[in-house]
Amino acid sequence: MRCLSGIQPTGRPHWGNYFGAIRQYIDLQADNEGFYFIADLHALTTVRDAETLRQNTLDSALDLLALGLNPDRATLFVQSMIPEVTELTWVLMTGTPMGLLERCHAYKDKKSKGLTADAGLFTYPVLMAADILAYDSQVVPVGQDQVQHIEVTRDLAQSFNHHFGESFVIPKAKTLSVGAKVPGTDGEKMSKSYDNTLPLFGEVKKIRKQIMRITTDSRPMEDPKEPEDDHLFQLFQLFADQDRIDEMAAMYRRGGFGYGDVKKAVAEASEQYFADAREKRADLEANLDYVRETLESGAVRAREVAAQVLDRVKRNCGLR
Ligand code: TRP
Repeated sequence: MRCLSGIQPTGRPHWGNYFGAIRQYIDLQADNEGFYFIADLHALTTVRDAETLRQNTLDSALDLLALGLNPDRATLFVQSMIPEVTELTWVLMTGTPMGLLERCHAYKDKKSKGLTADAGLFTYPVLMAADILAYDSQVVPVGQDQVQHIEVTRDLAQSFNHHFGESFVIPKAKTLSVGAKVPGTDGEKMSKSYDNTLPLFGEVKKIRKQIMRITTDSRPMEDPKEPEDDHLFQLFQLFADQDRIDEMAAMYRRGGFGYGDVKKAVAEASEQYFADAREKRADLEANLDYVRETLESGAVRAREVAAQVLDRVKRNCGLR
């Protein structure tokens, strides 16, 4: 299967991004042909500072490579390095009903808050459709919040095929069947918009402090607690092996411990879990030429595929 996914370079990745999405892309590279890109054109709808966007884009490449994306197995590139995609966006735009985009949540949410949206945000799903269709992608691993965009992609591809003849492969979304539950520092779902995130990379000491400040309930220490309901336990579960999880669960059920101990355990387990990635990231940072070359050769490979698809599309609709 050809799998494709993109991540926006809008800030530092957090535990929620990793367990909710990034990990599954990386796992998929083992048995599939992977195309993974950094969606800088999409980020331009919100990141309006040149140096920040440049830095974020490079940082995202470092993150993905450090977390195990293997450029010998998968194609890693930057979205804007493939001009065929923006060209295809226009072609798709001509068949896109306004109503379809008006129903898309990013635009709808902004509008319902009384904010004005620009055409970039409004047509965001069409660029995303082009991202997917340009590489004949079959499977698109995404977070739940992106499923609507894959539906739009399928709609646009099907109606183009219907009108002009077979041009696009119809992709499928792939979401995690049991989405890992990643609570943030306040116990709500970890999300940048709640300002409750814990970063994957960064100063260990600072992250440890953030972990020690995670909110807890105020039940007395002696009380036995049901582990599954507790967000600290949920976090611990992400990082520990089964024996340690069982041990921790037994401690909850026994009662008589302080949450500080669990926080320490979460800190230690998470540091250990990301230790290799952290080290890899430091190596890559000292070797940016390698990272840039990787992105360049990824773009060459991606362009080969996109150019073929675009040629097929252009022939079918009379642009050549
Ligand atoms: N919109 C996606 C997000 O914010 C990123 C993205 C852009 C993407 N193009 C894509 C994801 C194509 C999958 C396929 O997460």
